[in-house]
Amino acid sequence: MAPLQLSPEEFHTLAQRVTDLSTRYLADLETMRAYPKTSGREVADLFDRPLPQTGEGERAFADLEQVIAHCRPNVPRFYAYVLGAGDPVAALGDYFASILNQNVTAWRSSPAAVAIERSVINWLAQALGCNGFTGTLTAGGSAANLMALAIAREAKLPANEHGVQRKGTIYASTEIHMSIGKAVAMLGIGRDNLRLVPVNSDHTINITNLDRMISDDVRAGYTPIAVLASAGTVNTGAIDDLQQVAAIARKHNAWFHIDGAYGALAAIAVPKKFAGLDLADSLSLDPHKWLYQPVDCGCLLYRDPGHARKAFAYTGDYTKVLNEDPLESFAFFEESMELSRRFRAMKLWLSLRYHGMDSFREAITNDLTLAQHLAKRINGEPGLELLAPVTLSAVCFRYTQAPPERLNQLNAAILKRIIQRGRVFISNATLEGKFALRACIVNQRATQADVEEVVTETLAAARKVCNESS
Ligand SMILES: Cc1ncc(COP(=O)(O)O)c(C=O)c1O
Repeated sequence: MAPLQLSPEEFHTLAQRVTDLSTRYLADLETMRAYPKTSGREVADLFDRPLPQTGEGERAFADLEQVIAHCRPNVPRFYAYVLGAGDPVAALGDYFASILNQNVTAWRSSPAAVAIERSVINWLAQALGCNGFTGTLTAGGSAANLMALAIAREAKLPANEHGVQRKGTIYASTEIHMSIGKAVAMLGIGRDNLRLVPVNSDHTINITNLDRMISDDVRAGYTPIAVLASAGTVNTGAIDDLQQVAAIARKHNAWFHIDGAYGALAAIAVPKKFAGLDLADSLSLDPHKWLYQPVDCGCLLYRDPGHARKAFAYTGDYTKVLNEDPLESFAFFEESMELSRRFRAMKLWLSLRYHGMDSFREAITNDLTLAQHLAKRINGEPGLELLAPVTLSAVCFRYTQAPPERLNQLNAAILKRIIQRGRVFISNATLEGKFALRACIVNQRATQADVEEVVTETLAAARKVCNESS
C-alpha cells in the first residue's frame, strides 16, 4: 500500500476507538475534577517525546487516555474565562469537516461549504435582529475584532496602498478586551491612539467623556476611525449603551463596531438588553462561547460587504474568479484576511439544526438565571461580597473577612486553593484595583447545585488559607 493510506476497515476501527473514548469522556464529565491534578513537569515528561521515524500504528491512539487525564475538562462546574462547554453534536460536525477537508476559500473550491457558511451567517444575523448583515466565520473574537478594525481603518483612513498618512484614533472604554489593543498595534494605528474612555459605576462607557474625547481629538487634527462598544465586557459582562454609542459614532463620522464576543449571542434570549445591536457597522460574536461550539468558531458580521472587500480584496492570478454567476463567483477571501479557511460552519449548521434555536435560547436563559442565583447566594453570605452588578453571566465577588489591605493577596490565595481542590474552576478579574474571584457561567451542563458549589468551595478554601496563615 502507498504511504499514509488506510483501508476502510482500518479507518473504521480507529474511528470506533475515538468514538468509544469520547463517549466515555462525556459520560464521566459529571464526576471529573474541574482541573486535572498535573504539573508542568508531568505533562512535559508525558508528551515531549522523540519524533517517531517509523509509525506506531494504533499504539498512538492508546495515549489519548493520557491526553484526557491531563486536559482541563468541560465539567458542569467550569466557570473560568468566557468559554462554552462544547456541544458534542457540533464536535461531530468538526470531525466530519476534517474528513471532508474542504478549503472554504471560495464557491468554486467548495460549493456546499460556502453555501452552508453563508446560510449559517444569515441565521446568526437574523437571530440577533441584524437582518441583512453578512459576514464570515473566524477563528475567534480576536480575529473578528482585528478584521473589523482593518475594515474600519480602510473605510475611514485608507492605508492599504500607501500606508497610514494621517493620525487616526479609536475609542473604547477602559473595560474593552485586550484583543482591541493587539489589533490597533498590528494595524499600525498605535496603542497611543487607542483612547480608553472612563466607565460609569456599572462599568459601561461614559458617553459624555466619549463625546468630549473625540471632539478634542478632532480639534487637534486626528481622524476618528472607529468608536467601539462592548456587548458584554470580559470582566463583568457590562453592556455599553449601544444606541448612545452609535449616535456618537455617527455624529463624528466614525465606524461603529460592537465587540459582542462574550455577550452578543445572549440577545437570542434577552434581546431588550442589547437594543442597538443592529446599529453597528460591524459586530464580533463568538459561537465558541455562548453557542457552546467547540473552539475555533468566531464570527464577524457587517452591514456592508463592500467595505470588507475594500479592506481585503487583493487577488493574485492564481485565485482570480472567472465566473460571472453571482453565487458561484463568491469568494470569502475577498472579505476576509484568510485564504485557506476551515469548514467552521459544518459544526454550527449541524448543532443549530439538531437542537433548534429554542434549545439554545433555553440554555442561555439557564446560564443567566444561574448567574443571578449565584449573585443572590453571595449576597446572602456575610463573608462574601459582590464586586459588580451581574448584567449577564459573569459574577465577580470576593471574600471579605480580613483587613482591607490584605484582601487582594488573600483572594488570590483563595483562588489558587479553589482550583487545587478541583471541585469548581473559576478565574479572576481586577476591578478598581480589587482582586475579584470571577465565575462566568457559559455552560449548558451547569445546574443550580453546581453553581452553589462556587460559594461552598470559596468558603472552604478561605478557611484553609486563613488557618494556614494564622
Ligand atoms: C469581550 C471579548 N472580546 C474578545 C474576546 C476574544 O475572543 P477569542 O478568545 O475568541 O479570540 C473575548 C474573549 O474572552 C471577550 O470576552
